[in-house]
Amino acid sequence: MADILDFRSDTVTRPTAGMRAAMAEAVVGDDVFGDDPTVNALEEHVAALFGHEAALFAPSGTMANQIALQLVVPPGGELLAGADAHVLTYELGAAATYGGISSRTWPSDGAMLDVDRIAGMIRPAGYPSVPTAAIAVEQTHNLGGGGVVPLSALRDLRAVADAHGLALHCDGARIWHAHVADGVPLAEYGALFDTLSVCLSKGLGAPVGSVIVGSRERIARARVVRKRMGGGMRQVGILAAAGRYALDHHVRRLADDHERAGRIAEALAPYGVVDPATVRTNLVILDLTKAAPDAPTLVAEAARRGVLIAAMLPRTARVITHLDVDDAAVDHAITVLSELLSG
Ligand SMILES: Cc1ncc(COP(=O)(O)O)c(C=O)c1O
Repeated sequence: MADILDFRSDTVTRPTAGMRAAMAEAVVGDDVFGDDPTVNALEEHVAALFGHEAALFAPSGTMANQIALQLVVPPGGELLAGADAHVLTYELGAAATYGGISSRTWPSDGAMLDVDRIAGMIRPAGYPSVPTAAIAVEQTHNLGGGGVVPLSALRDLRAVADAHGLALHCDGARIWHAHVADGVPLAEYGALFDTLSVCLSKGLGAPVGSVIVGSRERIARARVVRKRMGGGMRQVGILAAAGRYALDHHVRRLADDHERAGRIAEALAPYGVVDPATVRTNLVILDLTKAAPDAPTLVAEAARRGVLIAAMLPRTARVITHLDVDDAAVDHAITVLSELLSG
């Protein structure tokens, strides 16, 4: 067990020996010319996983989301999303800045979608108001504690989008976790969305990298937008090899992360900070409104004892399980956090 146990995010993982070997052996070329066979193979693989025609490697989840949004919403068009959607709230106004995209949000209830309410927000073209072009959904839902958006709600939303001629985008940074938690095939998710952005560095253990998935026509446009945004990379097969290794070796094991997060939630439930029933994947959100320490205090005290967790709000903290924390690390975190919460 390491001296410092890092539960702040599932992005803190370090490449494993096997992943590093795959990176070292990667055959590479200049990807801006389309010459990198490892990148091309990864893109084909991810497109096939989701049942789409094409895919494009991108440096980050943020850039992948923002490229995808520019494919489905024209400048001056409108995107609908949840109030705490990563694509709007945590990407620092990128949709407006780079895409000229106008947005409206529905009040977020985590992974729960009120499809009738969303349908009621749609503004058709032809009126003196900004027309809605697309709807974005996050799977799993980060601020919603890693909750899984139910397949039935996504199907209902697809029907609404079709009825209004709108596109659906999925911020699937952690769609792998939803796939493992609910057993929904990736292709089934893929069939419901026009564009998806999926991350290889959140829980899967790759050091960097996301993939945009869509039709051949949209991905050809995505390649242009990526270059415009400075995301064209050269011998990037080294990173794509890490992503492919992550997909081949680290998806099924996410079930272990989910089980460990559930164990943390069960252990901390007696302190009134989390309802274990809400923990479906690898995120545990601690609601400290009724607990003695506030989030900065809990974070600082836990860090002093070698357990890193994240403060999200003054009275909200987050604990995330991932590839680099094992059962012993989880046991230690439970001991430390229990002591601090029983304070
Ligand atoms: C749901 C979600 N979408 C997108 C992103 C953006 O990813 P990146 O940090 O690679 O830009 C994150 C990052 O944590 C995320 O949680």
